[in-house]
Amino acid sequence: MIQRSACVFLRLLSRAPTPPSSCTSKARAGYYGTQATSSLREACESSNYSRTDDEYADVEWDNLGFGLVQTDYMYMMMCGRDEEFKQGQLSRYGNIELSPSAGVLNYGQGLFEGTKAFRREDGGLFLFRPQENAIRMQIGAQRMCMPCPSAEQFLDAVKQTALANRRWIPPPGKGSLYIRPLLMGSGPVLGLAPASEYTFLVYASPVGNYFKEGIDALNLYVEDEFHRAARGGAGGVKSITNYAPVLKAIARARDRGFSDVLYLDSVNKRNIEEVSSCNVFIVKGNILSTPATNGTILAGVTRKSIIDIAHDLGYEVEERSISIEELINADEVFCTGTAVGVAPVGSITYKGNRIEYKTSTQLVSQKLYSRLTGIQRGIVKDDRGWVVEID
Ligand code: COI
Repeated sequence: MIQRSACVFLRLLSRAPTPPSSCTSKARAGYYGTQATSSLREACESSNYSRTDDEYADVEWDNLGFGLVQTDYMYMMMCGRDEEFKQGQLSRYGNIELSPSAGVLNYGQGLFEGTKAFRREDGGLFLFRPQENAIRMQIGAQRMCMPCPSAEQFLDAVKQTALANRRWIPPPGKGSLYIRPLLMGSGPVLGLAPASEYTFLVYASPVGNYFKEGIDALNLYVEDEFHRAARGGAGGVKSITNYAPVLKAIARARDRGFSDVLYLDSVNKRNIEEVSSCNVFIVKGNILSTPATNGTILAGVTRKSIIDIAHDLGYEVEERSISIEELINADEVFCTGTAVGVAPVGSITYKGNRIEYKTSTQLVSQKLYSRLTGIQRGIVKDDRGWVVEID
């Protein structure tokens, strides 16, 4: 028997940090799914807002970084260990209450995703390849012994969250709404075992550039003491357990003035793997290479998109092992990720030696970035159906 009230209790309307001014006419007209509609309607009706669809939240859009800005709504759905997720709903953004013995708190049984909603010049609202995140969460859930929302449920939840928080989607060119789906073992467990209950939660925050460097090139530290992932581990899925262990390496690198850390394989410390928050590519001549997704590398959605775009632009792409020597001898290095976008690397430092790369405007990464953002902004034709209109 699942004791939902004991495991996760949402403090819903009473704790909302900001007014739900995304309660637009569309929301009131039943724009959201059945239960979500009623949830949102309750939230709307409990307050007196009469904003229009066009109104923006009170945010300094030119100063967005990658810090949490609390928005109006989140989405939540729960199910038991041997059940399927059925119906979730939007609620006001706020704290959740968890059992002290929740699986996610005690044993790290959790996954997260990251996807973005964009606003175009004509006012249209779009997501970029959210179905890829849905599938990746399903693969991760199998690895972490969790039930998972169907791709349809995932997409619906992401869309609802984006639309309910539409006033937080930055103006065109000023950033995006970063959407963070979480899947976690929220039920109590004491012995090491899958939790008895699971929560799928989606929240969002407007974001700008991930790194403080903005669009400037990154200076990476090649880490040969700490590792991000090991063979047979969970490095290939977006487990929450992949992230806390690299905090120390990041802190040490930042203290020394570096932007982030590039990790090596944990067996031979010879091949490059990925950066704490993103995938890595090297360029040599007309060939782009990136570490193959062999279990220790996250299958990034931006990584996958950049591979396709590179082919379109006439580059060869290799997914394979890349030695540190090849990195050192590369013409160009860049990183890709949902949060990071496409970020050029200006230098790497390995065993005390700093190697610098060209960072002119003629970079391959710049061409890839322009094509990717062009598709997202609707300036470049979206031949593959990557962008999903939500409005
Ligand atoms: C993303 O790019 O969406 C990520 O999940 C990376 C995270 C460390 C911000």
